[in-house]
Amino acid sequence: MTGLLPPLERIPREIACLADYEPQARARLGDQAWSYLAGGAGDGLTQAANRSAFDALRLWPRLLRGSAGATTRISLLGLDLAHPVIVAPLAYQRLFHPEGEAAIAMAASAVEALMVASTLSSVPLEAIAAQAEGVPQWFQLYLQPDRGLTLDLVRRAEAAGFAGLVLTVDAPINGLRNHEQRAGFALPPGVVAANLAGRAPPPRGEGHPVFDVAMAHAPLWSDVAWLLGQTSLPLILKGILHPEDAREAVAQGAKAIIVSNHGGRTLDTLPPSIAALPRCAEAVAGEIPLLLDGGVRRGTDVLKALALGARAVLVGRPIAQALAAAGPLGVAHGLKLLVEELCVAMALTGIRDLREIPRDLVY
Ligand code: FNR
Ligand code: LAC
Repeated sequence: MTGLLPPLERIPREIACLADYEPQARARLGDQAWSYLAGGAGDGLTQAANRSAFDALRLWPRLLRGSAGATTRISLLGLDLAHPVIVAPLAYQRLFHPEGEAAIAMAASAVEALMVASTLSSVPLEAIAAQAEGVPQWFQLYLQPDRGLTLDLVRRAEAAGFAGLVLTVDAPINGLRNHEQRAGFALPPGVVAANLAGRAPPPRGEGHPVFDVAMAHAPLWSDVAWLLGQTSLPLILKGILHPEDAREAVAQGAKAIIVSNHGGRTLDTLPPSIAALPRCAEAVAGEIPLLLDGGVRRGTDVLKALALGARAVLVGRPIAQALAAAGPLGVAHGLKLLVEELCVAMALTGIRDLREIPRDLVY
């Protein structure tokens, strides 16, 4: 790994906010790993719009109300959480640190952040759960080519103590990520989908390579109904953008929705998730909580998302960047910075309780 800097062993003062981990990670990763971490689909328009849409929103403060006794605590699907910042599911984190997702879990629990563990984690889900330290975790499920294999993952997640199942519904086939293609990205030896180790790849199907082969095991609403009948864990659907899909999720019995465009990694030119959020919130009308991810980098972003209808937010790329730059120390520090920014944003806008944010907080 010539030319790449070693991981940070302490946090330099140059890292003042979560996004400051990005250049630190870039200096420590080769082109292939970087292309997987940082890139989006196509021209990266949705990825960029996730950020610019947040930046275009302004907060409208109320003053002279004090903030003594204010709190960042929220409740979510029966959980009492210290703050609304959640670690998004991220595949293959051993690309970025030898301890991978176990290091992220250790950091998340240290700052009381709920973590979502990916089906495609590079350490087994049980090793992630072992780092929970009493802080709740959810398991992100990708449906497997046969229901027996899917159920096996669900039972393992239940046995390991995960408190919710996040079914990702927006990535049945890989997005066309040109950055990865140009860098020739492939998983290096030793980084594998640890939860699926030893499984034979599904038999090659016949017919159209996209419509019949790649999409052969794409989840359907009927799979959502089936899954709901298999587990008592709350089911959260991740990747919904259209209000009609949000309504259907409620009708089917999903317990929450993550409004998301997968960080712009699936289909380019999808709308920014923060722009889709108010429409989904109107459709769901408070029946189940909505969460949001895509471009959340600042405490002010968290507050904006909550004002527009989210109960909590997830953060993706910056977690992997902090991990690459400084291991679990970096992840814990980055999350702490984000929550501190949220506190300052609350104090300066007159928000005392995240459950009671006036809609006109967004100007
Ligand atoms: C992801 N994401 C993702 N989502 C998911 O449901 N399962 C997964 O395994 C992964 N893997 C994954 C790997 C990497 C490297 C990234 C960057 C993202 C998507 C992720 O959960 C989330 O939706 C986005 O990352 C949120 O956008 P930001 O915060 O990265 O802008
Ligand atoms: C990704 C897949 C694994 O975004 O969800 O890389």
